[in-house]
Amino acid sequence: MTAKVVVTGKIPQSGLDVLANAGITVTAWTNDEAISRDELMQVVVGAEVLVTLLTEKIDAGVLVAAGPQLRAVCNVAVGYNNIDVPGCTHRGITVTNTPGVLTESTADIALALILMVTRRLAEGERVIRSQTPWQWGMNYMLGSAIQGKQLGIIGMGAIGAATARRASACGMSIAYTNRRPVSAELERELAATNMSMKDLLTSSDVVSIHCPSNESTFHLLAEAEFALMKKSAFLINTARGPIVDEAGLVLALEKGEIAGAGLDVYEHEPVVHSGLLNRDDVVLLPHLGSATEETRSAMASLAAHNAVAIASGGVPLTPVN
Ligand code: GLV
Repeated sequence: MTAKVVVTGKIPQSGLDVLANAGITVTAWTNDEAISRDELMQVVVGAEVLVTLLTEKIDAGVLVAAGPQLRAVCNVAVGYNNIDVPGCTHRGITVTNTPGVLTESTADIALALILMVTRRLAEGERVIRSQTPWQWGMNYMLGSAIQGKQLGIIGMGAIGAATARRASACGMSIAYTNRRPVSAELERELAATNMSMKDLLTSSDVVSIHCPSNESTFHLLAEAEFALMKKSAFLINTARGPIVDEAGLVLALEKGEIAGAGLDVYEHEPVVHSGLLNRDDVVLLPHLGSATEETRSAMASLAAHNAVAIASGGVPLTPVN
């Protein structure tokens, strides 16, 4: 196949193998660090298909630099807020993502954050590592139990449901809010109650975000929403940073409006709001949701299959536009 495919970030071998097996010779970025904007603008020139990572901003500038022959942008991520999808659609460029293959690993991280923040696990680990004197005590470092508490899921897609399943196994009850109601079968399986956003925020003990990041979900949770939450409640975000107003979150924590937060994603990633860094009531992870060997390999392979399908004039497996 002669289509020019450019891979703009270092991806697992599984993805490169799919492309090679289809007879495609790729131009691939092979450094561990993300490609710089300048290098990105150069490497995309003449590409028919781009395989991109979430660290690359694929905006109008990149689409123009690539040229009118560009047919597809295949993101190696389920989220695609790094891509100007309307701009691609307008130019007839297909955008694809990698749903399904990272559902379980992301839900694992959501559950891990729920446990870490409610049971003060990162804080406890810091005590040991800093060699701070400690002793078992009846009242020492008490957290909050999750059994019998309500988990409020914002966005009951595949990852939201997988998180709910895990939390339910830990004894939590499930509430959710979603653009559309989920199937009766899933509601029954999870014993999940559909609520308005307001009811979910006021009644949940843990609120976990699983919706896509777009214009309508930008700062979906900001000061007004934190003020609605219980003072004893925790916020978990494994979706995308811009859904949360990070400055508003810092204020809410400072004012004691919520009890804590577990975050895997940040509004201005990789920068983290300085007001979060020294707080013991937040757990901060460096965007590890899909970070397992198996999942990353599956993501690269799915993105590459999408690229091959498009390069050969076929239908991509997982288009978003
Ligand atoms: C990871 O954050 C993804 O969207 O795949």
